[in-house]
Amino acid sequence: MLSALALVLLVSSATEGRILSKCELKAELEAAQIKMIRAMGDKMTVDDLIARLVCKASASGFNTSFVKAIVAKPKENVPFNTHSFGHEKQRPVRQLYGMFQLSDQLACDSGMMPSLNVCKMSCSALIDDDITDDIACLKTVIGSIKPKPKNSSDITLPLATLNTILVKECRFVVPSRYFAECLTATTPIASID
Ligand SMILES: *[C@@H]1O[C@H](CO)[C@@H](O)[C@H](O)[C@H]1NC(C)=O
Ligand SMILES: *[C@@H]1O[C@H](CO)[C@@H](O)[C@H](O)[C@H]1NC(C)=O
Repeated sequence: MLSALALVLLVSSATEGRILSKCELKAELEAAQIKMIRAMGDKMTVDDLIARLVCKASASGFNTSFVKAIVAKPKENVPFNTHSFGHEKQRPVRQLYGMFQLSDQLACDSGMMPSLNVCKMSCSALIDDDITDDIACLKTVIGSIKPKPKNSSDITLPLATLNTILVKECRFVVPSRYFAECLTATTPIASID
C-alpha cells in the first residue's frame, strides 16, 4: 500500500517536475560557486548574479521541467507576401529548457535544431528532477560568454551573451530584499513561501 503510493508519487514527480523553493535554488547556486566573468562588469557581485538567476528562474515557477517554445518573429521590414498566404513556411522555433531556460540552439541538443550544444548534453536532461546538471550547464554557458561583438553584422551564430542567462526584468533585483525570507531558514519556524 505504502510502496504503491510511493511509486505513484515517484512517477508523477518524474513527469511533472520538481518545484524548488526560492531559497533552495539560492543555496544550490551558492554551492555551485559560479565564477564571475569580466562581461558582468565590476559592479556585479556574486550575490547580485545569484539573485538575478533565481529571479529569472522564478518565471518557470521554479519548476525543473519547465519548457518554453520561442517562435521567431517575422522580420518587420519584409512586406507581407500575399502569394504565400496559407503556404507560409513554419517559422523556426527554439525551445528553452529547464528553470534557467537554456536554449536548444546554444546549450543543449534537442534533435530539432542545429545547436552549438556547448554543454554537450541532451536537452531532455535539463528538464528532469535533477538540477545539478542544469547548474553545470549554466556554468558552461557563462564560461562561453564573450564580450558583445562590436560589429553586430558579424553575428551569424547564437552567441552566448549576458542576455542568454539574465533577463532585463530582473535587473534591479536587490539580493538582501529578494532573499529576505531565506535568512530565517535556519530557525525552526515554519518558512513562509
Ligand atoms: C512543470 O512544468 C511541466 C512542463 O511545463 C508541467 O507539465 C508540470 O505540470 C509543471 N509542474 C507543476 C507542479 O506545475
Ligand atoms: C563590420 O562588418 C562589415 C561586414 O562584415 C564590414 O564591412 C565592416 O567594415 C565592419 N565594421 C567594423 C567597424 O569592423
